[in-house]
Amino acid sequence: MNKLICLVLLSSFWIFLGEGYDPCCAQPCQNQGVCLSKGADAYECDCTRTGYYGENCTTPELLTLIKSTLKPRPNIVHYILTHYKWIWDIINNISFLRDAIMRYVLTSRSHLVNSPPTYNADYNYKSWEAYSNLSYYTRTLVPLPQNCPTPDLPNAKQVVEKVLVRKQFIPDPQRTSLMFAFFAQHFSHQFFKSDFKKGPAFTKALGHGVDLGHIYGETLERQHKLRLFKDGKLKYQVVDGEVYPPLVKDVQVEMHYPPHVPEEQRFAVGHEAFGLVPGLMMYASIWLREHNRVCDIMKQEHPDWDDERIFQTTRLILIGETIKIVIEDYVQHLSGYHFKLKFDPELLFNERFQYQNRIASEFNTLYHWHPLMPDNFQIQDQVYGHHQFVFNNSILTQHGIRNMVDSFTKQRAGRVAGGRNLPAAVQAVAVKVLEHSREMRYQSLNAYRKRFNMKPYSSFEDMTGDKELAAEMKQLYGHIDAVELYTGLLVEKPRPNSVFGETMVEMGAPYSLKGLMGNAICSPEYWMPSTFGGKVGFDIVNTASLKKLVCMNIKGPCPMVSFQVPDVKYQSSENMNSSSVHSTQHHTNPTVVLNERSSEL
Ligand code: HEM
Ligand SMILES: *[C@@H]1O[C@H](CO)[C@@H](O)[C@H](O)[C@H]1NC(C)=O
Ligand SMILES: *[C@@H]1O[C@H](CO)[C@@H](O)[C@H](O)[C@H]1NC(C)=O
Ligand SMILES: *[C@@H]1O[C@H](CO)[C@@H](O)[C@H](O)[C@H]1NC(C)=O
Ligand SMILES: *[C@@H]1O[C@H](CO)[C@@H](O)[C@H](O)[C@H]1NC(C)=O
Ligand SMILES: *[C@@H]1O[C@H](CO)[C@@H](O)[C@H](O)[C@H]1NC(C)=O
Repeated sequence: MNKLICLVLLSSFWIFLGEGYDPCCAQPCQNQGVCLSKGADAYECDCTRTGYYGENCTTPELLTLIKSTLKPRPNIVHYILTHYKWIWDIINNISFLRDAIMRYVLTSRSHLVNSPPTYNADYNYKSWEAYSNLSYYTRTLVPLPQNCPTPDLPNAKQVVEKVLVRKQFIPDPQRTSLMFAFFAQHFSHQFFKSDFKKGPAFTKALGHGVDLGHIYGETLERQHKLRLFKDGKLKYQVVDGEVYPPLVKDVQVEMHYPPHVPEEQRFAVGHEAFGLVPGLMMYASIWLREHNRVCDIMKQEHPDWDDERIFQTTRLILIGETIKIVIEDYVQHLSGYHFKLKFDPELLFNERFQYQNRIASEFNTLYHWHPLMPDNFQIQDQVYGHHQFVFNNSILTQHGIRNMVDSFTKQRAGRVAGGRNLPAAVQAVAVKVLEHSREMRYQSLNAYRKRFNMKPYSSFEDMTGDKELAAEMKQLYGHIDAVELYTGLLVEKPRPNSVFGETMVEMGAPYSLKGLMGNAICSPEYWMPSTFGGKVGFDIVNTASLKKLVCMNIKGPCPMVSFQVPDVKYQSSENMNSSSVHSTQHHTNPTVVLNERSSEL
């Protein structure tokens, strides 16, 4: 009854404005059917190739029905991949099985991403403008049409304060290290580079993927200022016998530093914001050293090559190394899988796969993993709070790369899902994310769950698995279908002993794998030794690892380097000793967990 009155009121409001009510506002088309409005009170659902038919694309075709009954739910697949280690140990050693599974992982994930891209924040229908204008992030789900009633959302600042901000540090049970967290930030900022001057829907990273613009600069002009123009190398400086990025005053590229930062600490790198934290500048220094190291190898292999050719070939090698490390070290760690992931572009050569990529706004939103950040940073025997840590490159030169790596490997990152683990120091970022998602008219968390083959959450407790958090969320949002994507991702119940919940992984993995494998170097035309300067360069790509990246670029013995905090003794600061870690593992009874999950299917 209330709803009816409300509808009547709303429609008369629009009639008053001289605009018709858009029947697509009610989002009647299911299963990715496309809604086409026809005047003020009619619509049509285009169900082409959805596997469904009927007025609202709700009736499954026979094949769809069979497929969906056979298809295991994401949580079941995840359970299998993260258990039965002994079986995986065998499968990992049988190359045709490992290849077949990896091929399945790649295709099943990447098929969830529209390619070629379709919508953007200003176009909720297909258009040449949306397809061709690279300044926009693309959109996976269309923005809600401008004239639709939007749910009454809670104040963004209140959401952050009530359910997102950290009370007490919650360590990630997957034992993710800060070495991982800063890699995530460094790597992802090459393609998440919002152009806030134009608005949150726009990006400055026009490569839309792994182009290493964060190392070489987004524009040719910036790249040239960073290059030495000798043997393909990048400019650098030496401090205490170690190689670091050059100074802003010497190379004249724009960097974002607050006024108080002295000239001799203003390092210049490809990405103008990497002075923000020493963790970013640490990785920038490592990659700079790697570039110049590979240049030396190329020079030796090809004494006849000029600077330009060495530079360009080295850049391709570093792109390859990055993708290799991201799949086999980074995603491997995040996944928690016992199955051993493999970077091998040949797996896709006989598949239907588009070698192109467009970064989605939703991918950017979900990648705001700020809860990974601890309350303070322990480097050697020093402890830095956020305030001392940000814009402080002297930390890097004072401790040196080796000690930074060693310390970041030993310090645990925070858990991302589960709510209330966002450091207060960066809470303003989360408020912005919510405000921007609203400005860009994002659909709800549950709409995204459906889009990525998950069942929508049925209640606040279903979503959080925690009574108190559920109650707080209900107070804020009222109805489960009103919950926003970002809030949902950070408060949803984590998978057992995991950093993320289901939605983060099931949404993030498709974007991630598509972006990595959709790179030009993975295509049949590029993926061959000659592209990378011959066998030597191709081998560098195919044997790359995080450990090698670090250890080939520091003198002397190799420090501890890992995306996972390696030994329980380093967890003392989080009140976790070895006995308590073991007990949590033993208490996770597999059958109980499986039952818990089956109930939510
Ligand atoms: C102490 C460490 C960090 C600080 C101080 C920090 C701060 C910020 C700030 C100020 C922004 C811009 C927000 C805006 O204007 O909307 C931002 C954006 C972002 N941050 Fe962080 N951040 C930190 C660590 C991280 C980490 C570890 C990640 C992990 C992936 C991350 C991911 C992102 C992403 C994806 C964006 C969006 C970038 C864009 O759209 O241009 N940040 N962060
Ligand atoms: C399709 O959706 C509309 C609006 O939600 C509803 O009124 C109509 O009954 C639905 N049609 C069918 C066949 O389910
Ligand atoms: C897998 O193969 C490697 C070497 O190829 C071997 O060292 C290892 O023992 C094998 N593991 C199993 C479980 O067969
Ligand atoms: C992309 O769209 C924006 C917003 O409409 C516009 O300002 C910009 O000029 C477009 N870019 C190109 C290359 O057309
Ligand atoms: C920056 O780090 C140094 C240690 O390298 C420390 O002494 C200094 O206080 C820090 N600067 C600020 C502004 O906190
Ligand atoms: C480890 O933790 C358990 C349980 O929290 C506690 O009983 C025990 O005393 C702790 N041991 C050490 C060495 O801290």
